Amino acid sequence: MPLRLAVLLSGRGSNFAAIHDAIVRGVLDASITAVISNRPSAPGIERAREWGYPAHVIDHKQFADRAAHEGEVLRVLAAADPDFIALAGYMRLLSADFVARYPHRIVNIHPSLLPSFPGVDAQAQAAAHGVKVSGCTVHFVDENLDAGPILVQRAVEVRGDDTGETLAARILVEEHIAYVDALVKLSRGRFRLEGRRVRFDE
Ligand code: GRF
Repeated sequence: MPLRLAVLLSGRGSNFAAIHDAIVRGVLDASITAVISNRPSAPGIERAREWGYPAHVIDHKQFADRAAHEGEVLRVLAAADPDFIALAGYMRLLSADFVARYPHRIVNIHPSLLPSFPGVDAQAQAAAHGVKVSGCTVHFVDENLDAGPILVQRAVEVRGDDTGETLAARILVEEHIAYVDALVKLSRGRFRLEGRRVRFDE
């Protein structure tokens, strides 16, 4: 059975595009049952429409508060019945209640080697800090920011003349590989959590 995936995004959607490409190429055995954007103008939701996926704009500005917005997202997700929810540049914090509905079933990608540099502008944080290696992390989402158990990481060398932008561009290449890798692992079956450690059964 293909993995049922829902994708949540807010922006350009290059990670979503990488997931789509992997499905089209037959690398990832999955079907995308919903793409949800909180921003009407997100290029990613336009791509979703072009590629024929069920595309939903759920604009947070149209709701009274976070709970009301999340309630609508949860309603659409319930109908889409995903095995996993992939956050792909989704710029909204999820409440603890939301996360509790899908324990270890929400996946995020973050552009640093967590637990270093959580939060916004991770690539600029890394460049400014002077680390020599950074990268990206695919992790389960828990109730804390960029903190859940780690599925896949990929490293990138930080060069002396890197800015946040130049580093972000090189990390993004690895993000696309890492996200597909993590979803392929999840699609192949079972995993166990030993504390924070994610173990895939061979
Ligand atoms: C990526 O850098 C991702 O790590 C971060 O948001 C960005 C989304 O980019 N969470 P895209 O919309 O997938 O191109």
